[in-house]
Amino acid sequence: MRCDIISIFPEYLEPLKLSLPGQAQRKGLLDVAVHDLRDFSHDRHRTVDDTPYGGGAGMVMKPQPWWEALEHVRTLGDGTPTLIVPGPGGEVLTQRLARELADEDWLIFACGRYEGIDERVYEAAADVMPVRVISLGDYVLNGGEVAVLAMIEAAARLLPGFMGNAESLVEESHEDGLLEYPVYTKPATWQGREVPPVLLSGDHGKVAAWRHQQRLERTAARRPDLLHASSALTPGGVDDRW
Ligand code: ADE
Repeated sequence: MRCDIISIFPEYLEPLKLSLPGQAQRKGLLDVAVHDLRDFSHDRHRTVDDTPYGGGAGMVMKPQPWWEALEHVRTLGDGTPTLIVPGPGGEVLTQRLARELADEDWLIFACGRYEGIDERVYEAAADVMPVRVISLGDYVLNGGEVAVLAMIEAAARLLPGFMGNAESLVEESHEDGLLEYPVYTKPATWQGREVPPVLLSGDHGKVAAWRHQQRLERTAARRPDLLHASSALTPGGVDDRW
């Protein structure tokens, strides 16, 4: 999977060199390139923003640097990329959406700042490639960079060969619409608190039933909105949300 990221803060994306995403790049599963939007402005101040038509607070990102950056980045890979623009006005990132991103061969991420990118950039881009606006959730960040870190991590860990232990992908929160069960490790007693005895029983059937019950209770307590749609409630059932 190839990911090109355009930002006015390229350093923000440095964490992608760490840990599993870093390993995935060294293994050749993931190819990340970060581009500085200011390299595509032509004045000596490297300007990328201007005041909004119609008035109002803040600044808007100019179309020209964005378009030149996108045209340049589009020459770097093979085939047609999908353009992802992080923004609070987009579809919300879910595990299903992360899987859709992981299925793509090439993603370009356009990190907006200030009040956003001139709308004509979205229109021009949509003439030459699929464009998706994706939100991390219903709150406002200062720019798209943190959202891109989350999107690439959520997608890259689903790439075949990325995780050492693919089983942990199957059992984790959101894979079937339920939250994860609580986990414990040694010692069996810590600060006077015991590990639930069933986990020490060696009875795999009882352990599985207990974990399933914990997942249901947790989901009901923390995310009741997830419960009615979960495929885990209808064994063998297909949950088209995930
Ligand atoms: N940029 C600003 N707010 C955002 C959000 N909630 N998700 C993604 N990108 C953003």
